[in-house]
Amino acid sequence: MNIKLVILGNGFIGQRLGKELSCPISTRPISSFEDVESVIEEHRSNVLINCIGFVGKNSVDECEGNRSKTLFANTYIPILLAEVAFRYNVKLVHLSSGCIYHYDYGNDSPISETEIPNFFNLYYSRTKIYSEAMLKTLNNFANILILRIRIPLDDRPHQKNLLTKLIKYQKVLNIANSITYIPDFIKAVKHLLAINATGVFNTVNDGALQYSRLLDIYKHYVTDFNYSIIDYKTLGLVRTNLILSVNKLKASGFSIRNIDNVCEECVTNYLEYEKCLAQAGA
Ligand SMILES: NC(=O)c1ccc[n+]([C@@H]2O[C@H](COP(=O)([O-])OP(=O)(O)OC[C@H]3O[C@@H](n4cnc5c(N)ncnc54)[C@H](OP(=O)(O)O)[C@@H]3O)[C@@H](O)[C@H]2O)c1
Repeated sequence: MNIKLVILGNGFIGQRLGKELSCPISTRPISSFEDVESVIEEHRSNVLINCIGFVGKNSVDECEGNRSKTLFANTYIPILLAEVAFRYNVKLVHLSSGCIYHYDYGNDSPISETEIPNFFNLYYSRTKIYSEAMLKTLNNFANILILRIRIPLDDRPHQKNLLTKLIKYQKVLNIANSITYIPDFIKAVKHLLAINATGVFNTVNDGALQYSRLLDIYKHYVTDFNYSIIDYKTLGLVRTNLILSVNKLKASGFSIRNIDNVCEECVTNYLEYEKCLAQAGA
């Protein structure tokens, strides 16, 4: 298939993917069939990458205060896109989330794509569960690829980048989590597009990150930086911590790095990027 991509959603991940995949990002507000049809027509695209969503500007807790916007962006729009993709024989790549599971660190093994989502404590998570469930009903009839991202970590500053957040908070949890390192995620997206993959994929790095590991490397380079470790139970926020399996991603032929092995690269690239931004006066 001659792939003609278009990205919907001009946010953190949409912009990052748009640049790396060298494809257009539609900024058209989406609320109807006609809006989606216009995007396909304008860009002559046969693959839609849905990076539209509402995750809250600062945290997912904002979803509760923006209930209609959250449901619309995270549930209605994916269904709308899937229906249009089905009608026009267009591929849909949908960004889902790993924050849809409970995880028992004592008893559970990394969660595979076939396990049924069971984390209903956060409204954000419920809206992502709804859309996944609806899109999966078209599994055998439409070309739909669902990519589960979890806690994006990038090698450049951004308010939604885990590293930027941790540097700001100066407090880290003492619990290991699945992480999506964005440079590796981009490579995974290219691979999954190239093999025309469909269905659900956990697009996280192998292993699980203890945040202190990342910040210890950061501290090695920024010697006056300090942080403290806090217990998850004292955080006082409803969140889920979990580890996803990458066996399916690996079985597709993609070699995904262990998260521990990307930390050094992430921090050094991040600091280099920051230096360039400072030199450019940004
Ligand atoms: N960031 C994370 O931690 C994370 C983790 C796991 C999964 N994800 C998933 O990844 C996806 C992208 O997240 P992100 O971090 O890139 O979010 P983001 O930076 O907030 O970007 C979302 C984009 O969607 C746009 N949008 C919302 N409603 C729209 C509509 N009706 N029509 C057109 N555009 C609309 C927003 O535009 P406005 O700002 O103008 O509304 C924004 O540009 C989401 O589905 C999210 O659930 C994110």
